[in-house]
Amino acid sequence: MQNHTILITGANGEIGHGLIAHLSQQRGTKIVAMDLQSLDPSLQRLCDRTYTGDILDSGLLQTLSTGHDFDTIYHLAALLSTRSERQPTLAHRVNVDGTLNLLEIAVTQSRQQGRVVKFIYPSSIAVYGLPDTATKAKAGRVAESAWCQPRTMYGINKLYCEQLGLYYSSHYRQLDADTPKGMVDFRGLRFPGLISATTLPSGGTSDFAPEMLHYAAQGKPYPCFAREDTRIPFMAMPDAITALLTLQDAPRARLSRQVYNVTSFSPSAKEIYERVVESFPRAKVSFEPDRKRQAILDSWPQDTDDSAARKDWGWKPAYDMEKAFSKYLIPAVSQRRAT
Ligand SMILES: NC(=O)c1ccc[n+]([C@@H]2O[C@H](COP(=O)([O-])OP(=O)(O)OC[C@H]3O[C@@H](n4cnc5c(N)ncnc54)[C@H](O)[C@@H]3O)[C@@H](O)[C@H]2O)c1
Repeated sequence: MQNHTILITGANGEIGHGLIAHLSQQRGTKIVAMDLQSLDPSLQRLCDRTYTGDILDSGLLQTLSTGHDFDTIYHLAALLSTRSERQPTLAHRVNVDGTLNLLEIAVTQSRQQGRVVKFIYPSSIAVYGLPDTATKAKAGRVAESAWCQPRTMYGINKLYCEQLGLYYSSHYRQLDADTPKGMVDFRGLRFPGLISATTLPSGGTSDFAPEMLHYAAQGKPYPCFAREDTRIPFMAMPDAITALLTLQDAPRARLSRQVYNVTSFSPSAKEIYERVVESFPRAKVSFEPDRKRQAILDSWPQDTDDSAARKDWGWKPAYDMEKAFSKYLIPAVSQRRAT
């Protein structure tokens, strides 16, 4: 079987953990992983090479690019929404300049190898911005082209990087006489909040859902920073990994767009609490909304329309809310608690 070399940035994060576990099971796939933090030892043995360093370090990126021939780049490294709001200039550097650096690597690689390099980019529902809760309720399931007026640095960074990806795919150096088109095959997914059974998020604004669950499993009281009626979409981590891998494999001709919504279930914070209590009856959750983080949640859609992904490349989540809790989250967090 032909070897397929994949670069994963931000490999030590929540998505990186799930993605590496899956990709390492594919025969013929070589994983090159990099992250600012040294990679979790359980992941290191699944990778061919690991690098610890910054996506803003051009020397490191050059080492990566000269040392490997990448077929696909999963660019996961980022500062998430809450952290980005606290350090907006750093967020801009990491999220935008970092992505630009990786897109340049993709171009260099495709020239070196004389073939298309795929660039898979996890975007977010943070690209949307609804002005108030009444508009949010009325908007319902938001399509990719609607309400792209983000109010956070993170959302702005993500929306702009989607556009950068489209530029590198179709218009890169368009005035040059001999620039071949389509050398970077950019594909983006706008994820909702992700809930993993094995890792705890940090620095995101959708973190209240996974935190509620993990605190309950650990028997710790949880002051929830969201109002009970807060409703945004979520997805179980295995579905997020499936979405990334399925989009990566989809034939280009089947894709009517380059950035897709994907979603699964859309409970209120209270409904999440009720489901957590069903499994952990002693869970102590108090709703103590943080006015400023709440305003960000209120600007995100209550649901997204992922019909384009369903139609073009057969996207379908395996986990609805009940199955996510009963078959994935509760068994795994309970087992972790027991060990
Ligand atoms: N988790 C979610 O709910 C969610 C939702 C939508 C989109 N996303 C996107 O998916 C991607 C991965 O998210 P995640 O949940 O794994 O986040 P995470 O915070 O768990 O992981 C991000 C990783 O990036 C690394 N990193 C940060 N700055 C870096 C730098 N300068 N150089 C190298 N590495 C750096 C961090 O060390 C971390 O390991 C991000 O782009 C995020 O915006 C996540």
